[in-house]
Amino acid sequence: MSDIKRKTVSVVGMGYVGLCLSACLAKLNTPVICVDVDKKRIEQIKSGISPIHEDQLPEFLQMGVEDGIISATVDTEQAVLNSDITFICVGTPTSDMGYIDLSQIHTASKNIGKVLKKKSTYHAISVKSTVIPGTTDSHVIPIIERESGKKAGKNFGVCMTPEFLREGAAIYDFLNPDKIIIGAIDDRSYQEFYEVFQDFHEQKIGKNVFLRCDLRTAEMIKYANNSFLATKVSFINEMANISALFGVDIKIVSKALGMDNRISKEYLNAGLGFGGSCFPKDVKALYNAGKEAGYISKILDATLQVNENQPYYPITMLKEELGDLQGKLIGLLGLSFKPNTDDVRFAPSIKIAKKLLDIGAILRVYDPVAKENFRKESGIAVDAPITYCDSALEAIRDTEGVLIVTEWDEFSQIKPNDFKRSMKKAIIIDGRRIFDPNLFENMGVIFKGIGFSTSRNYAPT
Ligand SMILES: NC(=O)c1ccc[n+]([C@@H]2O[C@H](COP(=O)([O-])OP(=O)(O)OC[C@H]3O[C@@H](n4cnc5c(N)ncnc54)[C@H](O)[C@@H]3O)[C@@H](O)[C@H]2O)c1
Repeated sequence: MSDIKRKTVSVVGMGYVGLCLSACLAKLNTPVICVDVDKKRIEQIKSGISPIHEDQLPEFLQMGVEDGIISATVDTEQAVLNSDITFICVGTPTSDMGYIDLSQIHTASKNIGKVLKKKSTYHAISVKSTVIPGTTDSHVIPIIERESGKKAGKNFGVCMTPEFLREGAAIYDFLNPDKIIIGAIDDRSYQEFYEVFQDFHEQKIGKNVFLRCDLRTAEMIKYANNSFLATKVSFINEMANISALFGVDIKIVSKALGMDNRISKEYLNAGLGFGGSCFPKDVKALYNAGKEAGYISKILDATLQVNENQPYYPITMLKEELGDLQGKLIGLLGLSFKPNTDDVRFAPSIKIAKKLLDIGAILRVYDPVAKENFRKESGIAVDAPITYCDSALEAIRDTEGVLIVTEWDEFSQIKPNDFKRSMKKAIIIDGRRIFDPNLFENMGVIFKGIGFSTSRNYAPT
């Protein structure tokens, strides 16, 4: 931590991004005022309780609150008046038509503009939410100028600093950035945010992670980043589906691809497709914005289509073994869209559970942390035949088939014998390829997985 007196930062929107940003800035000794419209969330933050599951976040938050370096309020005015810099971290969901919904951005900008009207000192604002290129220029700045009666670049600074954290590793990612992109309208705005991130300057971490550009380039960088990673996921899933038909194990193919520096090993685990609050909505939003601007992206379209179908593969595999699933008891292991988070937004588990219920299956499901979010957000009727279990072993008990939907570490600790003993019929479909198929050889279980050679015989002995 540095002794330099740091400016106070306010963060508007206490979702995954705003919370992790606030907790990490506080950890780096920057005073932070957290703002959200959700009173319950603000009360939790004030008590040092994390409203979301993210490694290290509870400790950082509690420490920040106890040290008085983090405060929280529902009042944007109080936060902006008492800070020098504001990050906008509100949600940018997809509208029903697949376009970006900017309503939270509009409200947040309006609220900030109203406060700036009352403020005599310079204030710097950065959009951190993911927004379509041109949004900060043509929505955020005009709204703030109109509400405040002040001029961007003169009375207040504007930047766009996209966020690249991964849920499940958000704190690590924030503290170990590969890059910090600052899109700025002028030198002063840039300098304000460059100082916020002073702990990541080259002299301290030994590499230059900063890239300066204009607002719309920063906005595009975020979309290009997510679109590339999402495309990589859909690509490896297609390779997996083809590999399986040729009796080839995708795990070995992925490993070989990852050994190539030009490709990198990240995002090459074949599975059930991407979910979460970012990839699905961002790829869709960019596809639609591009189309509206006059370009139809075949790659983004294909990325989404592959992802749409991928969660249904394990159901087909189950049907191959069990035939009609009507009345059959099926276990689902994992509900969050990926491990180490409780986020279920666009999680493959939702599509899989809904489809299985549609065709008459009865479900037992388990997730270490995402059960409550799944219950609230999946849209599955409360009286649907689904039992929420307290352990993985409970979820597989008496089932005729188990699908591994999320690659939580604890699932890989289940022994092949546990499956065999607990299940009525030991049919395991590994949607995330967490198990080595050889473990199941001669065990009297049927083991299938995404991108796994279907030519090998694991029939019950
Ligand atoms: N979640 C991620 O992994 C991630 C990663 C990188 C970028 N992003 C982007 O960051 C942005 C935020 O994502 P998130 O997942 O944290 O969103 P989120 O939906 O989890 O949280 C948004 C929060 O903003 C609050 N809010 C809405 N309007 C407000 C207002 N006017 N004033 C104060 N608070 C308000 C909501 O109550 C909510 O708590 C999105 O644009 C997203 O695409 C997300």
